[in-house]
Amino acid sequence: GLSLDLSKQSWSLAGLEAALALAKAAGVDAAKARLFGGEVVNASEGRPALHMALRAATDAPFQAQGKSIMAEVQAVRARMAAFADGVRSGAIVAADGGPFTGILHIGIGGSDLGPRLVWDVLRPLKPQIDLKFVANVDGEDLALACAALDPARTLVVVVSKTFTTQETLANALAARAWLADAVGQDKAGAQMAAVSTALDKTAAFGIADDRVFGFWDWVGGRYSLWSAVGLSCAVALGWDVFQAFLDGAAAMDAHFRDAPLENNAAVLLALAQVYNRNGLGRAARSVVPYAHRLRRLPSFLQQLEMESNGKSVTPQGEAVTHGTAPVVFGGEGSNVQHAYFQAMHQGTDIVPTEIVAVAKPGAGGSDMHSKLLSNALAQAEALMVGRAEAPIKARLFAGNRPSSVILLDQLDPKSFGALIALYEHKTFVEGVIWNINSFDQWGVELGKEMANAILDELQGGAAKVHDPSTAALIERLK
Ligand code: F6P
Repeated sequence: GLSLDLSKQSWSLAGLEAALALAKAAGVDAAKARLFGGEVVNASEGRPALHMALRAATDAPFQAQGKSIMAEVQAVRARMAAFADGVRSGAIVAADGGPFTGILHIGIGGSDLGPRLVWDVLRPLKPQIDLKFVANVDGEDLALACAALDPARTLVVVVSKTFTTQETLANALAARAWLADAVGQDKAGAQMAAVSTALDKTAAFGIADDRVFGFWDWVGGRYSLWSAVGLSCAVALGWDVFQAFLDGAAAMDAHFRDAPLENNAAVLLALAQVYNRNGLGRAARSVVPYAHRLRRLPSFLQQLEMESNGKSVTPQGEAVTHGTAPVVFGGEGSNVQHAYFQAMHQGTDIVPTEIVAVAKPGAGGSDMHSKLLSNALAQAEALMVGRAEAPIKARLFAGNRPSSVILLDQLDPKSFGALIALYEHKTFVEGVIWNINSFDQWGVELGKEMANAILDELQGGAAKVHDPSTAALIERLK
């Protein structure tokens, strides 16, 4: 249900063949085997990366460093399904014995962007259970989400792989106080659940074991939406929908694992990126879903690709001398045509574009949908062919600006699951070719440490040594 059109890329057939030769020389086949074999592909943290196991059939042979993991995966999956069914049927109830009608999902980064996207794409027009998300430590975020929910009818789901993330813990404490105000201190726990790999920390936070859903250190945060991190979506969408989403991803896993490099969608998409980034020096890529429900895809891909591949050191500790992750940005088509597309057509930098479109109309019917699709195809054509003749120079278009089109037959749980898995595997292939570890994220640590020191100062602690610029800003805030 998904096709990939790379015919508007800048490569000649010889260029494509050279890119395929590069993939072979970089050992993409062997790397795939190590990934699926549960070997340590995340060397700096000493972990495999086995998000594929989370969507695999129960009898799939996934192992983490030689240890079978499917029984544990299946046990959590069964608990998620039972919890989703229980909340939806009214067997699991709020503190006053009434049904849950809302969920507040608290998490950030990989514990937020994936579930948020899943909900936008698959949510019914009038859901039985509404789902709101809070990520930012700016209290305005929580206040706005809570204003749209009834605390007596709301289940709060706290999602954090580490359960140490400042933003998430601050929001979780504030949400618990919000619940307690409405239902009483002693009953607030009945309306909370947690998802984490750190079960000691969820217990210390006071969430009952039967409301805690675990996952494993071999699941990276930005690859975790298939795990219990998707719990809120499973409850709000129903288990059948969530399972179909997993199935779609599993189908893409099989394609990625088995298809030869030259027919492998994830490999070809990665090679188009490498060709643009390293062959042509294009440092950015614009992603434009022509589907309102996919409008958050660029934000999701920003984390997936820039946190995975925004690296400048090899696993062997050497400096990388070639470009790695491009800047990924974008927004929904056709809206962005009326915003930044002027620069895409006539700006001084060439920015490759990726268009994601859906063949079958959704709500609104075929007339509006044809208009939407005509815009998608017209942009790709205009970027490529340009316009050579015009009465004034300002109306000329150079053309020769590359784009790809990913076309889904329809936007259903299965094809959407396949789309996300396609991007995950594409990101992995790029990491192999660039010789970087796509599964760590040390680059986010320094700012976190510095924020703790500054927080102490802003709250009255002793002044610390800073550069003059930062010191002046702290002084101004104080
Ligand atoms: O700070 C970045 C990050 O580490 C992401 O990789 C991760 O998805 C996010 O924080 C949230 O982490 P956690 O799920 O542990 O709260």
